[in-house]
Formats: sequence, structure tokens, C-alpha cells
Amino acid sequence: IILCLTIFANVFKTVKPDGVQRKLVGEIIRRFERKGFKLVGMKLLQASEEQLRQHYWDLREKPFYNGLVKYMSSGPIVAMVWQGLDVVKTARKMLGETNPADSLPGTIRGDYCVEVGRNVIHGSDSVQSAQREISLWFKHDELFCWEECSEHWIY
Ligand code: PPS
Repeated sequence: IILCLTIFANVFKTVKPDGVQRKLVGEIIRRFERKGFKLVGMKLLQASEEQLRQHYWDLREKPFYNGLVKYMSSGPIVAMVWQGLDVVKTARKMLGETNPADSLPGTIRGDYCVEVGRNVIHGSDSVQSAQREISLWFKHDELFCWEECSEHWIY
């Protein structure tokens, strides 16, 4: 059910350990719901270092890789899948830049954090990486298929 057409896609998001500890989960869900996206899957979990090494495999040569894996496994995270028109592209705008200092007010990182190593939320950077990340964190039967119960989605 992970339909990944170019305009109508799923995106994987994680509220990072700092976002959970700072009680920003509800605020982040609120923003995506109000924007008009559909929640397709969500769970609170403590990720293992092994899972996170896989998730961040492309960054394995970066100097911050080990620190990023340790931080992400340091407490519970909230993994979510959102669906909608241009969701990958739009969600990245809603998140802001990697470095909160470069993120405009009104974006999640622009409003809620100051440090690149504690930037509250992860979002897939392309439809292809969203597909990979969703299959890494969610089983097929943990994702909801809206198409089966509603024909039209009101934006
Ligand atoms: S890079 O360097 O261009 O690959 O960076 P970028 O694509 O913007 O970010 C990839 C992920 O690495 C995280 N990141 C960092 N973590 C800790 N410390 C430093 N200095 C740092 N720089 C980048 C960044 O938040 C991205 O993780 P996610 O989970 O996608 O936000």
C-alpha cells in the first residue's frame, strides 16, 4: 500500500528524542493534520543503534554519524507516515533547514530549536528515501489504507 507516485506520496517522519522529551509531539502532529495530510502510521518506540545505523547508512562517512546514532537511540522517538499531494516536498518546507539557525520562523525547526544536533524532527528527503525508510520502520499491516474507507479526501 505504499503508493509512491511523484505527486501523491507517503513520507516518513520521526519526532526525535529531544522533540518527545520537550513534549512537541502533539504540536507536530497538529501542524501536519491542519496542513491537510493524512496520517497513515504512527508509533512510539526506542530505536536500536543497529536500526539507526541502517536508517542513516548514507551518512556513515560523516564525522557526526556516531553521535547522531547515539542521540537518536537515547530515548523514545515517534515514527510516523503521512500521505498527501506533494507531501515530501511540502513537509521539508514545514520542517525548515537542517540547521535551526537557518530555518525561518513558522517552520518547526525555526520555531522550536537552536542546535543542529538537536533539531527535533527528521523527514525523508525524497520519495525514494521515504519508501526505504517506511519499509525499515513499519510493517505492511501497520499502515492504514485510507482508499479502502473513503473515496474523497477533503483538503
Ligand atoms: S549533510 O551533511 O549534507 O548530509 O547533512 P543533511 O543532509 O542536511 O543532514 C543529514 C542528517 O544529518 C543530521 N546532521 C547532523 N547531526 C548532528 N550533528 C551535525 N553537525 C549534523 N549535521 C547534519 C541532520 O539533522 C540530518 O538528520 P535528519 O534525521 O535527517 O534530520
